[in-house]
Amino acid sequence: MGTQLESTARELVAPGKGILAADESSGTIKKRFDSINLESTEANRRAYREMLFRTPKLGDHISGVILYDETIRQNAEDGTPLVKVLESSGMIPGIKVDTGAKQLAAFPGEQVTEGLDGLRERFAEYAELGARFAKWRAVINIGDGIPTSFCIDANAHALARYAALAQEAGLVPIVEPEILMDGDHSIERCYDATLATLRALFEQLAAHRVSLEGTLLKTNMVLSGKDAKQQATSAQIAEETLRCFRNSVPAAIPGIVFLSGGQADIPATENLNEMNKLGPHPWELSFSYGRALQAPSLKAWKGEPSNVEAGQKELLHRAICNGAARDGTYSKQLEDAA
Ligand code: 13P
Repeated sequence: MGTQLESTARELVAPGKGILAADESSGTIKKRFDSINLESTEANRRAYREMLFRTPKLGDHISGVILYDETIRQNAEDGTPLVKVLESSGMIPGIKVDTGAKQLAAFPGEQVTEGLDGLRERFAEYAELGARFAKWRAVINIGDGIPTSFCIDANAHALARYAALAQEAGLVPIVEPEILMDGDHSIERCYDATLATLRALFEQLAAHRVSLEGTLLKTNMVLSGKDAKQQATSAQIAEETLRCFRNSVPAAIPGIVFLSGGQADIPATENLNEMNKLGPHPWELSFSYGRALQAPSLKAWKGEPSNVEAGQKELLHRAICNGAARDGTYSKQLEDAA
């Protein structure tokens, strides 16, 4: 079992490739569709994801795709399951299994992620449907007096319980604690919150007997708050993020994949590139972007069948740029070569 999980984890962070997060819940995809004035119907969601997944050559730069419960059960317009569409281009299907972050009772402003009840049975079904890896996202907020260590521990505990169940079912768990960039906090506060969260997470993963070789970490870069007056440079972001990981992430983890978390698409690529230029590191450093891969594509597609190729071109371009950044070879020329 160990070797199968390990080889899947390594495949997901193979050189030149990263993960496409396309697992927006119904609420989140509605927000994305609102931006192009498109109604969030099942047919439109299918059309959008089919457009993304059928992008020619996407599998050269994307190793795996994280799906939502609805999508893993959906068929393309010609009746082919979307899972098969991915597999036939060499991309590994994955599944988001948490059921969302909810307010943590008695801890104002903090959240805990739900979804453990019945998870063993759900994993069995997802494995049957073709999923080979999974994702669970925990949300940590920075604010007055938060995050508390209680909130960090509650989320780390849930992440570890999920990870153990994923491995039992033969799926690689992506453990995702996201320290949100919302707020006007300094990069130092983001560093402290990220460090405390990652240390708590790896303590819980060990306590729950999770194999690290068969696990991937997905997390945020260490950044200034979105509304902070003083914004860290790409070089500072790279330096602080790497320092944070060296102090908290065991070398047994095959790879760390970043979320974009609201960073614009080009900075997300530049920052990843900056970190890989400083390599080699103990772990592969790659991407698992949602918005930073999809935003230009969604805008070009606009829900129109006649724009499918335009949408695919934008997605492929971001996949090529991030595939290069993942190896530290991204450049302005590559960005402008669209
Ligand atoms: P973003 O890259 O848009 O943050 O999405 C990644 C993701 O999967 C968050 O859970």
